[in-house]
Amino acid sequence: MSETPATILFVGDLVGGLGRRTFLGLLPALRERHRPDFVVVNAENVAGGLGITPKIADGLFAAGVDAITLGNHAYHRKEIYPYLDEHERIVRPANYLRSQPGHGWCVVESDGTRLGVVNLSGNLYLRAGRSAFTEIEPALGELGAADHVLVDMHAEATSEKVAMGWHLDGRVTAVVGTHTHVPTADARVLPGGTAYVTDVGMTGPRGGVIGVKREQAIQSLLTQMPVRFETSDEDPWLMGVLISCSRPRRADSIEQVLMPRPAHSEAGREGELS
Ligand SMILES: [Fe+2]
Ligand SMILES: [Fe+2]
Repeated sequence: MSETPATILFVGDLVGGLGRRTFLGLLPALRERHRPDFVVVNAENVAGGLGITPKIADGLFAAGVDAITLGNHAYHRKEIYPYLDEHERIVRPANYLRSQPGHGWCVVESDGTRLGVVNLSGNLYLRAGRSAFTEIEPALGELGAADHVLVDMHAEATSEKVAMGWHLDGRVTAVVGTHTHVPTADARVLPGGTAYVTDVGMTGPRGGVIGVKREQAIQSLLTQMPVRFETSDEDPWLMGVLISCSRPRRADSIEQVLMPRPAHSEAGREGELS
């Protein structure tokens, strides 16, 4: 295994066109400031709030994203199904059924350093055909030669994410939680050397309710009746973590990256819900 130091930027769920533009707009400054060797993003909400399309995935890869992770909205857009099978660097939870489109892990390389990326889904309140805790083992087995391993544990329950952090401590470089869209204040390197955070947060409109226009979310909760949800366009932020490593499969530090989209950037609402 290489001793090459690595810096990994992981960015939480891109929500809608605004989330995508916020990420793409801030990425050059983040590259300049932190010089990440790897950029990994969760993009399960990037297509109008639900799912991802081949065109959007191509755009993210063209912007230099090394790997894309997903979650419970992975299959919202049918046109992505063949793409998930054909493209190595986009992953859906490894503990979905084998019969479902796509795969759960990949390896990306930068200057001779190999990063394994694994996507997992929690089993509480989310539909995942198999256990995250058992299915992580074959995934890690496949990634035997990777210098670093990043696990995106996409889960609703904090308990499952905390447990996965401890379960993998000392075996992987980082376990980062996604799905709740709200960043938690517990980013740290666990005693065995694994960087951990329960939830990275989202990249999208902080002015809504986890991405949805707040009036609609409140209406739904007030009336208990169906309400059509649209993606909010208020107060976009980028939320991520920066993980620094100097030893194989271990992290030296994890720090949160929480940045508002600069006020001068174009509002650009075209294609917002596409
Ligand atoms: Fe999400
Ligand atoms: Fe999710």
